[in-house]
Amino acid sequence: MLLVVKLGGSAVTDKARPFLFKEQRAELFARELARVLEAGSKAVVVHGGGSFGHPVASKYRLHEGGLTREKLLGFAETRYWMNELNQRIVSVLLRHGIPAVAVQTSAIALMEGGSLRELSTAPVERLLGMGLVPVLYGDVVPDLSRGVAILSGDMIAVHLACALRASALVFLVGSGGVYSKPPGTPGAYLVRELGEEDMVDVGESRGVDVTGGLRQKLECAFKAARCGARVAIGGVEHLWEMALGVDAPYTRIRASRE
Ligand SMILES: Nc1ncnc2c1ncn2[C@@H]1O[C@H](COP(=O)(O)OP(=O)(O)OP(=O)(O)O)[C@@H](O)[C@H]1O
Ligand SMILES: [Mg+2]
Repeated sequence: MLLVVKLGGSAVTDKARPFLFKEQRAELFARELARVLEAGSKAVVVHGGGSFGHPVASKYRLHEGGLTREKLLGFAETRYWMNELNQRIVSVLLRHGIPAVAVQTSAIALMEGGSLRELSTAPVERLLGMGLVPVLYGDVVPDLSRGVAILSGDMIAVHLACALRASALVFLVGSGGVYSKPPGTPGAYLVRELGEEDMVDVGESRGVDVTGGLRQKLECAFKAARCGARVAIGGVEHLWEMALGVDAPYTRIRASRE
């Protein structure tokens, strides 16, 4: 069994506070992932930008493209901070005995017109075959027509889940799942099962998000479900249950019937 985990920036950073890494949440993630691996599964991790990537990308408006000197500085600075967050996450995984290896996304991806043009999966497959746990991340990547673009971790996760025929794709988020209304709003409840035809009131992300927040994530989730993966969105503490399809308080994504 292959699991693809999108470790949301909202799960391991405080998106409203630049460069704040939630070490304890990352450790909980590592413990849960270790349990999944012990059960005989292989796993690929893709993490998001959180408060390391989004504020820098937003400052230089990299999501709008461009190729000026300023944009190139923004590209380099965003890459630097994504690498920093990646190191923190990989370091926690290593401390928990997980053979995690960083895979720099912008070195294996190209975009065109804001869409993913290619993402080499062969190196990732080989690392998996060797028994390693590749750790990719949402990143700035070259865009053949726009100059630069942001490739979200959510998009990478779906691409990998479909290309590698993963049995499960789990999105970990700080809110612990999808709520009927933005978390914290009176009357908001955790939606336990969500189909494409169901309506939820999606609010703003906490802090900055240059890749479309929860709305984009849901589109990615439905796409992966159509590829045949079991898809769930929930909190770090329920990773094991989500990976194995065991019931717990998280949001299960229902594949459309077509
Ligand atoms: N109805 C809703 N249910 C759940 N979360 C919601 C809802 N409306 C808004 N949100 C916000 O969406 C966030 C998840 O999307 P967001 O893109 O901010 O996080 P992420 O993808 O984990 O981060 P990153 O993009 O850095 O990886 C939640 O943590 C919450 O703040
Ligand atoms: Mg996001």
